[in-house]
Amino acid sequence: MKIMVIGGGGREHAIIKKLKESEKVTKIYALPGNGGIAADAECVNIGATDIPKIVEFAKTNNIEFAVVAPDDPLVLGAVDALEEIGIPCFGPRANAAVIEGSKVFSKDLMKKFGIPTAKYEVFDDINKALEYIKTAPIPTVIKADGLALGKGVIIAETREDAEAAVKSMMQDKIFGESGSRIVIEEFLTGPEVSVLSFTDGKTVVPMVSSMDHKRALDGDKGLNTGGMGTVAPNPYYTEEVAKECMEKIFLPTINAMSELGRPFKGCLYFGLMITPNGAKVIEYNCRFGDPETQVVLPLLESDLFEIMQAVREERLSEVEVKFADSNACCVVLASKGYPKSYEKGFEITIGELADNADFYIAGAKLEDGKLLTNGGRVLNVVAKADTLEQAIKDAYKATESITFENAYCRKDIGQKALAVN
Ligand code: AMP
Ligand code: GLY
Repeated sequence: MKIMVIGGGGREHAIIKKLKESEKVTKIYALPGNGGIAADAECVNIGATDIPKIVEFAKTNNIEFAVVAPDDPLVLGAVDALEEIGIPCFGPRANAAVIEGSKVFSKDLMKKFGIPTAKYEVFDDINKALEYIKTAPIPTVIKADGLALGKGVIIAETREDAEAAVKSMMQDKIFGESGSRIVIEEFLTGPEVSVLSFTDGKTVVPMVSSMDHKRALDGDKGLNTGGMGTVAPNPYYTEEVAKECMEKIFLPTINAMSELGRPFKGCLYFGLMITPNGAKVIEYNCRFGDPETQVVLPLLESDLFEIMQAVREERLSEVEVKFADSNACCVVLASKGYPKSYEKGFEITIGELADNADFYIAGAKLEDGKLLTNGGRVLNVVAKADTLEQAIKDAYKATESITFENAYCRKDIGQKALAVN
């Protein structure tokens, strides 16, 4: 089968490497891919949100299956456009991707169907929002309604900060039109767990759980980033919590979306907080998480392509989805300065890695046969092992075989999880 994967980061590289293991997959195109992905797929210089060009490429190249990985093409309707010309896709249609595309939609969905989440209010009038802030419990959480490159959440520790956050979103439009409408919600506490799931709208199969490390610096200090590392499984996701989540969150969400005529097919990501009052939804993503995918898919023992086909054909309940009873750790190698300004264009050298280690390229380009850094998060180094401790050690060991000038990584990925065990 000739397939194409839309997107071009570390997550897409992990998806592509896994799809390559399938006997059914004979050719993979990546749109746009990146200089590192080029070793595993044919990269085509078409942007992930350029839907007319994506459709045209699929038609002229007889693509037989498409995987749409990033949030923006999903929210913009890439799957609808491809399915319309008869190309089967893995990924939700726009009317279901709205679960990530609009925070107001997802909060209202949870309220209507009794799915546990933080209490909230919605505002499209700045004066009403500022009035509300005057008596809101502090800290408070302020979220832009629309997509904001994962940055649309501000946790305000003081009333002044909350006021400034509302003004920055609604008046200064720091997230553009995404901030015209905002959600102000209750601040929750507890460990966070990411659970990606496969769902065909009827059946939901959670993948192995994971833990993200969003802050730039050790000890969860510094700015929020797209993610500096992950481990799987997440020790806070016990069997008991998993059962509670399935009953109160996963199934009710899938059923609610189908009931609303928005069946969700693809990967639904549950960002959860295990609060003293039970598991609650912090956010939904309509796609594989990055860098969660980089620890989850290496533990998948079943054929990813077969699962994706089964999701598309609504027969997920008939296929096996098996994960290794093992552990994985992903360390993100970033450009020094990320998530603020950083330099690009340094050569990346990749030496021999141990059998239990692998890497995924997130931000690099090929120039005259050389792989050069081309983004904040440059690459992901992943190791698998029987224990979490060993997986962490081996992932850090593998980072020693990969060099580029100005490389930076957190040194404490997984330590929080280890402390739980
Ligand atoms: P997001 O950008 O939606 O992934 O949110 C970023 C981070 O903000 C989450 O990973 C949480 O750590 C935090 N967060 C979001 N909502 C809340 C909340 N209601 N209470 C506490 N922390 C939150
Ligand atoms: N790692 C969180 C996300 O993909 O949004």
